[in-house]
Amino acid sequence: MKTDVVIIGGGPSGLLLSQLLNRAGVATIVLERTGRARVLSRIRAGVLEQGTVRMLQEAGVGERMAREGHPHEGCIFSDDDLMVRIDFKELTGKTVMVYGQTEVTTDLYAAQDAIGATILHEVADVVICDADSDAPFVTFTHEGVQKRIDCAYVAGCDGFHGVSRKTIPQDRRREFERVYPFGWLGILSRTPPAHEELIYANSANGFALASMRNEMLSRYYVQVPLTDKVEEWSDDRFWERLTSCLPGDVVKTLVTGPSIEKSIAPLRSFVSEPLRWGRLFLVGDAAHIVPPTGAKGLNLAVSDVFYLHEALIAAVKQGDTRGIDGYAARALARIWKAMRFSWSMTTMLHHFEGEDGFAGQMRKATLLHLSQSETARRDLAENYIGLPY
Ligand code: APR
Ligand code: PHB
Repeated sequence: MKTDVVIIGGGPSGLLLSQLLNRAGVATIVLERTGRARVLSRIRAGVLEQGTVRMLQEAGVGERMAREGHPHEGCIFSDDDLMVRIDFKELTGKTVMVYGQTEVTTDLYAAQDAIGATILHEVADVVICDADSDAPFVTFTHEGVQKRIDCAYVAGCDGFHGVSRKTIPQDRRREFERVYPFGWLGILSRTPPAHEELIYANSANGFALASMRNEMLSRYYVQVPLTDKVEEWSDDRFWERLTSCLPGDVVKTLVTGPSIEKSIAPLRSFVSEPLRWGRLFLVGDAAHIVPPTGAKGLNLAVSDVFYLHEALIAAVKQGDTRGIDGYAARALARIWKAMRFSWSMTTMLHHFEGEDGFAGQMRKATLLHLSQSETARRDLAENYIGLPY
């Protein structure tokens, strides 16, 4: 087989890149290790930056988001009963869109199907060959048959556990990492949200987040030690912990119910450089992981796609390689700023095992300052709604 760009990974970044390239007349083949149902069964965050909303509209998948998504003009930070509203609209003139990543991925698959895109599922043994030559190719097994695709470029959109990053020789890679000593225990429940906006809660009992998907589907998280197991957390224990973290006024009207999904996610900050190895380009989780505290995971993958899709279109259609030569630097500049924001949000809102009283006072003072300083709120708002591309 032959194509312009082989895309490894059929998650949101791979599908969005494929959709944008196909709309510009660049041919792609997407190779996805699992089945489509499996990709769509992953529960991930759901806060979209303005830039992400624009990119999804540009890719022709904005219609259902506009109909079913919920623009949010602000969010709440709480410290026990102190509630600080960050008014994105007033502070930046912009808003975010609450629309689940699963919905985004569903829309992208539908759009790719509509234009007859080539997406091969259940592929195995993917090997990226000669990426550092002018004639890369990818071999893989599909439906029990060994296959090969010759291409001009390869986009590694295969997440943290994919093959793309590992295709770059270990001694040429530089990895930066911060592993946090706690995880997020999250549930999904068919109950009305605790509040019309998201609440990021710091409390004497640790961190909690009250989020939502729609009027009757809520998403909640509490901070737990990494050693905890989901089985150790009954719904009742979860609600008890959550209500001990949220402000009293919110708890008064909180509707609880059975969880329909429950899982623990570890928190990590990770960046692997370089993002480019010859004709191979890393995108999204294949190159970087952020803790979910800043809601930057999907949004950062989309900004990588923004930089790379323009560059690949120019390279394939006009033979102009300036964009691909500048991809890594442009993407990394924004990646490190989002890394910083996600790290600062995580340290500002979580209890660290064995921390002293001073650390707790720092969190309280940071939130108090947020409540008293418009400049501090504007800084947080600018980062939360998404820094410019
Ligand atoms: N061959 C083919 N596909 C692979 C391989 C492989 N060797 N390894 C992994 N994949 C697939 C996975 O099955 C997954 O569907 O690559 C896809 C990667 O998708 P994501 O992990 O969702 O990564 P990305 O598309 O970059 O999206 C980033 O996802 O994890 C969230 O918080 C993260 O929101 C962010 C977003
Ligand atoms: C979510 O809705 O799942 C969510 C929202 C915001 C975050 C993380 C997760 O920061």
